Amino acid sequence: MEFKAIGVLGAGTMGAGIAQVCAEAGFKVVLVDIAPEFVDKAVKGMNKNWSKAVEKGKMAADQAEKLNALVTTSTDNAAFKDCDIVIEAIVENIDIKKKVFKQLGEICGPDAILASNTSALSITEIAAATNRPNKVVGMHFFNPVPVMKLIEVIPGAETTDDVVEAVMDLSRKIGKEPVRAKESPGFIVNRILVPYINEAAIVYQEGIASAEEIDKAMKLGANMPMGPLALCDLVGIDVVLAICEYYWREFGDSKYRPSLAFRQKVRAGHLGMKTGKGFYDYTKK
Ligand code: 3HC
Repeated sequence: MEFKAIGVLGAGTMGAGIAQVCAEAGFKVVLVDIAPEFVDKAVKGMNKNWSKAVEKGKMAADQAEKLNALVTTSTDNAAFKDCDIVIEAIVENIDIKKKVFKQLGEICGPDAILASNTSALSITEIAAATNRPNKVVGMHFFNPVPVMKLIEVIPGAETTDDVVEAVMDLSRKIGKEPVRAKESPGFIVNRILVPYINEAAIVYQEGIASAEEIDKAMKLGANMPMGPLALCDLVGIDVVLAICEYYWREFGDSKYRPSLAFRQKVRAGHLGMKTGKGFYDYTKK
């Protein structure tokens, strides 16, 4: 399987990062979201990152222009019709994903692969909604996408090995290291990382230490690159809460009960860096 054009559905933090690394690897990228302001913000962000790379002497100025030319945007999923693969990075809602994947199957050519960047949801369930469950696969990136090296590749029940291999190969071509994981809630990284973040939020909620002290402790005591509550703000408190609730439902095990601190912050609209407030206040910086 040869990839020339890559579709990215969803121009949020993850979608923008995925579009950026695909363009950097020389692929044509079609970036789609529901509103022009979302795709415009993503393209602006990519160009800002490329300008920084030029300033640091890591990229030639004409290279940044070439990369920008590789990215086209649209608000219509029909723009994916000639893409060899579409990577979906939209909201973590299984019903919306199923609806969108069904539509992508109708738009894309018969050989196109449909990949989901879902953090935790069932690839098999998403695949079953399409006309090509053998060509649907999980391709899970990590935030911030331009920096994080890993991609988890997750086959659904009917995904063929050649599709998995093609996506692993594509992952290497965009400068990442793929790891294959069996389908299970949260796959590998989020299965381990989310309960860790949740425990940190429970420690916070119990008043054992402040957010700053918890993060400092984990950075200096366990050599984490950033503390769990700062990481939670980076990922999105709503996202972490939704993943905890999903584990609780799927595994039926109360060890996945989410911290009340998540619920309180989500109710207040404090979702982390993306809203300016979470465990930390970013509006003052
Ligand atoms: N976009 C692009 N580049 C970025 C970036 C971003 N958002 N954030 C940082 N960078 C780049 C910087 O430009 C810098 O590049 P340079 O070396 O060329 O100068 C480099 O990364 C290092 O950045 P900083 O010096 O500013 O900061 P740090 O060294 O502290 O690194 C960090 C920042 C990479 C975010 C680091 O703190 C880290 O690795 N944190 C943990 C991240 C993590 O665990 N992510 C996984 C989250 S889970 C997930 O995504 C799964 C999902 O399903 C929930």
